[in-house]
Amino acid sequence: MLILGIETSCDDTAVAVLEVHPVKSPDGGTTKWLFDRVKVKSNVVSSQVKLHAKYGGVFPSLAAREHEKNLPKVLKLALKEAKIKIEDIDLIAVTKGPGLAPSLWRGVNFANELAKRFKKPITGVNHLEGHIYSNWLRPTGEKSKTQMTNDKIFPALNLIVSGGHTELVLMKGHGRYKIIGETLDDAVGEAFDKVARMLGLGYPGGPAVALRATKFKVESSSSYKIKFPRPMINSKDFNFSFSGLKTAVLYKTREFTRLPDGQEKLSPKIVNQICYEFQEAAIDVLISKTIKAGEKYKVKSVMLSGGVSANKSLREKLEKKISAELNNVKFFKPDMTYTSDNAAMIALAGYMKKKNAKQGSVKVDANLNLG
Ligand code: KG4
Ligand code: ZN
Repeated sequence: MLILGIETSCDDTAVAVLEVHPVKSPDGGTTKWLFDRVKVKSNVVSSQVKLHAKYGGVFPSLAAREHEKNLPKVLKLALKEAKIKIEDIDLIAVTKGPGLAPSLWRGVNFANELAKRFKKPITGVNHLEGHIYSNWLRPTGEKSKTQMTNDKIFPALNLIVSGGHTELVLMKGHGRYKIIGETLDDAVGEAFDKVARMLGLGYPGGPAVALRATKFKVESSSSYKIKFPRPMINSKDFNFSFSGLKTAVLYKTREFTRLPDGQEKLSPKIVNQICYEFQEAAIDVLISKTIKAGEKYKVKSVMLSGGVSANKSLREKLEKKISAELNNVKFFKPDMTYTSDNAAMIALAGYMKKKNAKQGSVKVDANLNLG
């Protein structure tokens, strides 16, 4: 069957076409034993990054207006690339939350109108559930990850790290979630963005901070002198906090700016060092809590997702730590194409919940929780 995914929760207008072939399990049921075969036929994302960069972050009313303008064009491109007509679609899946309400409404209204006009079933998808399912996707045209069979991955621990969320979610099976930890203040991606803004590195901050961190490593680690706290690393729960770390970066930045003449100011080298240590501190906390949660819940796999999962250092360090400290636990990470917001992940999450989905129109829930 063919699923049309639509995603407009933040500043990316995304439409994708997914083809799914249900696989029969040896016991006769479908999808219980083997994960269905999934192929991304098209995955179009129209980014508004340049537009919002001058505001240093996403400007909600502007984002909504852009979605409205872009949606018909992005849909047309996605259908063309998939070589299908809208009439061929079997299901429409649209992000209904969490996210920016004006942006979400543009996608949901657009999807509801399509569903009505072409008489297609429609389902509303949780954006975070979409990120979780990005782990099953392969680049456009390639077949699904066959090693991700249900018996080998569940219970799975999901570390979802994005601009709006930092969550540890225990997944007992498809559609069965329990949030076991979350951030008490800033999301980790938000902290990357704010640190980048403090240091004048532009928006979005994550990739810029990550790049400067690499430069420090290449230059010399011997000149290492900046140290930041690892908030809540020893707390007994699985929650996070990144606002203290962000404030520590702010104070350090001010210290260097106010130094008397003759001493090293906030030079590019110091900026690289601040980025490196900030990234290390954030990653240390994420990994430490993930490992502890993995042990406690005796999971079979750990999955990483969300915009910050594009961070190379996080991907590599988490993988190493899991193989060193969690016995026989598999590690999955999304292909780089699917780390940031996209509609292929929404289409897959929508397909997975279609059996429970109520027919009819979808409403936005901007503060939607997984659970
Ligand atoms: O999932 P996403 O695309 O949108 C939300 O749902 O929020 O995540 C965007 C976030 C931004 O905060 C961005 O700075 C961060 O992901 N990000 C990164 C990297 N690439 C994107 N953070 C750290 N390192 C990266 N390489
Ligand atoms: Zn996202």
